Formats: sequence, C-alpha cells, structure tokens
Amino acid sequence: MADDQLAQAAGTSSSQLCKAEFSDRVLVRSILSQPEGGAELDGHRVRIGGWVKNGRKANKGAFAFLHVNDGSCPENLQVIVDADKADLGRLVHAGTCVHVDGFLKIPPAGTQQKVELWVQNVLHLRQVDDPATYPLPKKYLTPEYLREVDAIHLRPRTDTFSSVLRIRDALTYATHTFFHKHHFLCVHTPIITSSDCEGAGEMFQVTTLFSQAEKLVKELIKNPPPSESDVEAAKLIVKEKVEVVSKLKSDDKTSKEEIDSSVTILKKAKEGLLKLEKRSKLKPGIPQKDGKIDYSLDFFARKAYLTVSGQLQIESVACALSSVYTFGPTFRAEHSHTSRHLAEFWMVEPEIAFADLEDDMNCAEAYVQFLCRWLLDNCIDDLKSMADKFDKSCIDRLTMISSSPFERITYTKAVELLEEAVKMGKVFENQVEWGIDLASEHERYLTEVKFQKPVIVYNYPKGIKAFYMRLNDDSDTVAAMDVLVPKVGELIGGSQREERYDKILKRIREMGMSTEQIEQYKWYLDLRKFGTVKHSGFGLGFERMVMFATGIDNIRDVIPFPRYPGRADV
Ligand code: 4AD
Ligand code: MG
Repeated sequence: MADDQLAQAAGTSSSQLCKAEFSDRVLVRSILSQPEGGAELDGHRVRIGGWVKNGRKANKGAFAFLHVNDGSCPENLQVIVDADKADLGRLVHAGTCVHVDGFLKIPPAGTQQKVELWVQNVLHLRQVDDPATYPLPKKYLTPEYLREVDAIHLRPRTDTFSSVLRIRDALTYATHTFFHKHHFLCVHTPIITSSDCEGAGEMFQVTTLFSQAEKLVKELIKNPPPSESDVEAAKLIVKEKVEVVSKLKSDDKTSKEEIDSSVTILKKAKEGLLKLEKRSKLKPGIPQKDGKIDYSLDFFARKAYLTVSGQLQIESVACALSSVYTFGPTFRAEHSHTSRHLAEFWMVEPEIAFADLEDDMNCAEAYVQFLCRWLLDNCIDDLKSMADKFDKSCIDRLTMISSSPFERITYTKAVELLEEAVKMGKVFENQVEWGIDLASEHERYLTEVKFQKPVIVYNYPKGIKAFYMRLNDDSDTVAAMDVLVPKVGELIGGSQREERYDKILKRIREMGMSTEQIEQYKWYLDLRKFGTVKHSGFGLGFERMVMFATGIDNIRDVIPFPRYPGRADV
C-alpha cells in the first residue's frame, strides 16, 4: 500500500506526514519531529524502513522491541513486532534491516518514547548473516577502530557519524543558499589541471604512463616482440617483391592485371615489415626522450595533476561573471599526519570582482556567521546529540560566533601579541618573530586564549604567501587574510589578487620560477592584460568547518572516506 493509502486507512492525509519521496516509506524524522514527539499521530498507519540499532525479546518471546534508525534524525523509533510476524531471534540483532508497516500508538505512561510503532506487516527483513562478525557491536567503538577498513563502510550507521553527515549536508545546503542569496553563480572548476595554484609543489600527478607500461609488459610476455632476424627476413621478402614488380614492369608482355597484383603483394609485404619494425622497438618501462620521461606520450600529452585549489580558474570566470564561487574536492600531497590535514578535502572558494581585501573579509565573516546560524536553526537535534555525547560547548560556540563580530588584526599586530604572550611566560614550540608562518599553536592562542572568538589576521609578509596575492604599498606585505577560529585554527585563507601585470610578473620571477613554469601561467597572466580588475576571494576548508561545528577532534572523522598518507581505503 502506498503512503497515501496507508494514511487514508488511518483517516488522515499523508501530507500531514513528511513523505519520503521516491521511496516506499515515511521518514522516521517526520514522525518524531512532530511538536508532541509523534504522540499526535496516535492511530496513524505508517510504513517505515531502517536498521535495528538494538533490540530485545520481551514477554517470554511473545514480541520484540526494536530501536530502528533510518538516518533521517538522531532519534530511533521504537518498533514492536509480534512473534507471529517474524522470527524474533533473527530480528533483534544490531544491523538488521527492516521495512515494516503498522499503527503508531502512544506507549504506556512511564516509558521514554512518545510514540511507538506496532507492526502489522513485515515487508522486508534482512538480518546480519553472522552477528558475531558484525563490526558495530553495541559497545563503545573508538574513532580509530571506525576508520579501519573493516568498519569504515558501516561508520554512517553510528550515532556520531550519522549526525556529522547530516551537519555536513546542512552546511553544504547553507553554502549554496548563502552565495545564491548574495547573487553569486556556482561554477565548476576542473579537478585535473596543469597549474599549481599555491606553487607549493604538493600536487598529485595524473598519468596513465604507469598503467600503459604495465599493460605493455603483460602484452610482450604474451606476444614477444620480433627478433632482429625476423625483421631481416621480412626485409628480404620486401626486397624480393620489389624485384618482382620491377621485372614485370620492364617486360612489355606483362598485363596490367599482373602488375597490379604484384604491386598489391609488395604493399602487403611493406606493411608487414613496418609492423614488425614498430613492435621490435617496443621496450618495457616508462617512455623516455633525451634522458627524461616523455610526457608527450602521456594521456594529456603533458604533465597533469589533481587540483590543489580552483582559484586560478575561478578568477578567470570572475573576470567575466563578477561574483562566482566553486565548491569541490581539492588534493594535496603533503605528508601531514596532523588532525587538521587531509590529502583530499573539499573547499568553498568565492571570487569577487571589483572587491578589495576588506570586502573579502566582510564576505568571509558573513558567510561563516550564516553557516553557524543555519545550523542552530536547522540542525539543533544533531547539535544537541553532539553536545551530549561529544562536545558540550558546540552549541554555545556556534551561538557566540553567529552573533559577535570577528576581531581583525594585522599580521604585525598578531606577532606583537604573541611576543607579549611569550614575555608573560607563554611557551610556544615554534619561535615567534616577524616573518614566520604562524604555526597552529600561535593561531589557536590568538583565537582561543587572547580574543576567544574568530580572528582575521591580514597583511602577511610576502615571503610566506603565494605569488598571486596583491603587493601592499609597503612592498613587504601582501593583501592576504586568514580566518582563525577556536578549536580549529585556520579555517579560511584568502587574499586580494595581484591584478597588475608588471607586478605579478616581477613577483613570479623573484620567486625563481623557471621560464617553463611561467609559461604554464600565461593564460592566468593574460587576465591582467585583457581588461584587468581588482578582485578578491578566499577558500574555506569545508572539513575544518564541520570540525568547528561539531567539535570533532580529528578531520578524518568528518568526511565519509578519508584519504591521508598511507590510506585510501574503499
Ligand atoms: O589557505 P589555502 O591553501 O588557500 C588556498 O588554497 C587558496 N587558493 C584559496 C582561495 O583563495 N581561493 O587553503 C584554504 C583552506 C585553509 O584555510 C584550510 O581551511 C583548508 O583550505 N585546507 C585544508 N583542509 C584540510 N586538509 C588540508 N590539507 C588543507 N589545506 C588547506
Ligand atoms: Mg592557508
């Protein structure tokens, strides 16, 4: 029976329940999120589907209580199944999948639930084949265990991780909402690129040379290349055929047909020789030319990489469509084993034409505040669940950040404050002096201890920042900014871009880029020649935003399938 019919059977319109479109069930959330926790749906007939979190037989096996979760909300629905409806022994194990319909009823007074489902029909039941090997037993499981290859694919079934995924989804939706509200266009930038945006040489290479070489080795074993004597023999045959053709041509009595036929035979012999010669030159290994890898034979006929940032390409679009953003995966081959770095992470990168650094900071602040407010307005159940189980302060943090202005200080001021802290006895592992790249401990001191709120640090020394940032009038600093937040440190990195052709070329040369490297940025530099404009943008590390919102300590636990040095499971 469809939901409509089921609901009509209970004398109500199914539109009163939030329907799961394109699926034969209603969302558990649509029942439990009713103002009275679902009690107002007493007597309604509904169909739900989900996975048993835990279950137990009761009344000497006459029926079973199941706590079923379908991923739509943190709460489970209590489902009661009579022994005549299903094999209860198979049903009660964690991990069993059930699809059932029945009537919602208010449980007896004194029970926790506001509503429970009494099953009439079991439509689908698939138990865990061997409960002893199910990787998610009832006991507490550490984040490290859940990251292992045997558990990672089932991690979304845990309470914490399913909340993280719903919060991540809400942040995605909020991101698109924020930028569309402010008339930005979403643009997809390439994942495969030949430009190193950050110039840090931390790119993963994309090549088919290795798979081609492996294929060739296998092929040559199966079908060995011709020997020199095979080639010589084929050459002799060609020579003979040449002689036959010239003899026939010099004889007046030879017919045209005879000549044509001998020419055809010669052509075939020549083709055969060519093939043999080509195959005889095949050598296992990576193709080389002049002692270097020959990338002209690679898939893209050049060196190619996975992008570290969509910025360079989005800049070219901003110089036409004005306000744009990209939201995609980015890749960094840095060997960081920290709790804040991934090899594959998602970045939100707006780019705004006719905007300077201050506009950029205003946009970053408004965006982060919007995300925090959005979560408070739309994800409070999951946030409460995270606060209960994980990070008591996460709701307070989001509330504070959504409502108080961010602190803004120059890099020079930040260094002064850190030096003052050192004088007062604060010990940092990394020495503080003007010109250093702020370490995570410095960033966290500023945002967590000194200001206890988000801090935007701007105007960094040019020596520690990328080539594309606009040189300030002091010639020592660039118009860069980082947004630092409690719990995470750097959440956003951005800048006003250098839009002056001569200055950016000078900067690139000063950085010691080779002519070949400069050639790669030609198209990017062209933007500075063809109707250049001041423009600015930033990148928000999406996983860091999820960490900040949920309070999860390790970035590997806020992305479904984390990639980091040594691990790319599943
Ligand atoms: O500061 P980053 O390197 O800036 C850029 O890539 C610019 N091209 C962005 C732009 O202006 N359009 O990176 C931006 C943010 C960082 O602030 C951090 O939050 C995050 O990306 N990030 C990482 N997140 C997870 N793992 C890593 N390895 C990260 N590296 C940077
Ligand atoms: Mg940065």
